[in-house]
Amino acid sequence: MKENNIIKETSLIQKEVNTPTSEQFTSTAKLYATVFSGPPWNESVKCSLDGQFKGLDTPLGSRCSCGGIFVEAYPLEETVEYIKEESKKPKFKFQETVNAEGETIGFAWSYLTTPTKLAQSKWDNSDDQQKIINILEQKGIAPNQEIRYISECGVDPNFRGNGIANLLTDIVSGPETTVYRTNCFSPMMAVATRLEFTQIMGPEVIIDRSNKTIIETGRYINFLDNQNPQRTLFIKT
Ligand SMILES: CC(C)(COP(=O)(O)OP(=O)(O)OC[C@H]1O[C@@H](n2cnc3c(N)ncnc32)[C@H](O)[C@@H]1OP(=O)(O)O)[C@@H](O)C(=O)NCCC(=O)NCCS
Ligand SMILES: [Zn+2]
Repeated sequence: MKENNIIKETSLIQKEVNTPTSEQFTSTAKLYATVFSGPPWNESVKCSLDGQFKGLDTPLGSRCSCGGIFVEAYPLEETVEYIKEESKKPKFKFQETVNAEGETIGFAWSYLTTPTKLAQSKWDNSDDQQKIINILEQKGIAPNQEIRYISECGVDPNFRGNGIANLLTDIVSGPETTVYRTNCFSPMMAVATRLEFTQIMGPEVIIDRSNKTIIETGRYINFLDNQNPQRTLFIKT
């Protein structure tokens, strides 16, 4: 395990997991649904017809304007399957934080990919895909070079602000060149500064740590994602 000096809460246990157990898949999937239900993601429910997400103020079972019904955004079985698929990716690294009661309160995972594979799997239009490949190439990373991608990180709302995400992200980073995507209003923007990642795409922000707020400057780094203009991309070599 890496140095623990960035975590402020000492009663928590960090678990480096090679192959998650079925309990770990389940507890991570439950926490996954919780962390993405709130801002800035607001993925609490999902329309059964057009798939659009809505936040916590949209009741489960209510009707979408398109005629669909809002169902759970991340149903347990489907989310477990997603994480299981992720765990089969090359050099998968998974890290879990557990509280004194043994409950999962934080997770992060990463795996190896290449700029080409990453662009094709995570961006759905060819313009963005090519821009991602180009920007990484400008950073000296060939389209087929192996890089580590931090796929997901989340911390239970009751345990936020203790440095857990800083620690989890650090542990699942490297030794390869590492990249991750996030939303410009996620505290993962602050994690990037703390861990010395460089922003290579998306809105530039000012982070006010004491007031726990993030504001856009109106400028952006390199380009804005066509599909989601709040998306940002970071790299650490
Ligand atoms: C993003 C998330 C994982 C951060 O977890 P956390 O354990 O509370 O984060 P930390 O305590 O490690 O804080 C990380 C940094 O963010 C800063 N920060 C935390 N919350 C913040 C906020 N609301 N606004 C601005 N900065 C914030 C902290 O000050 C810290 O920076 P510092 O070490 O330089 O002081 C958590 O908020 C979360 O699960 N959010 C929803 C899911 C999500 O956005 N996941 C990332 C998807 S890529
Ligand atoms: Zn709909």
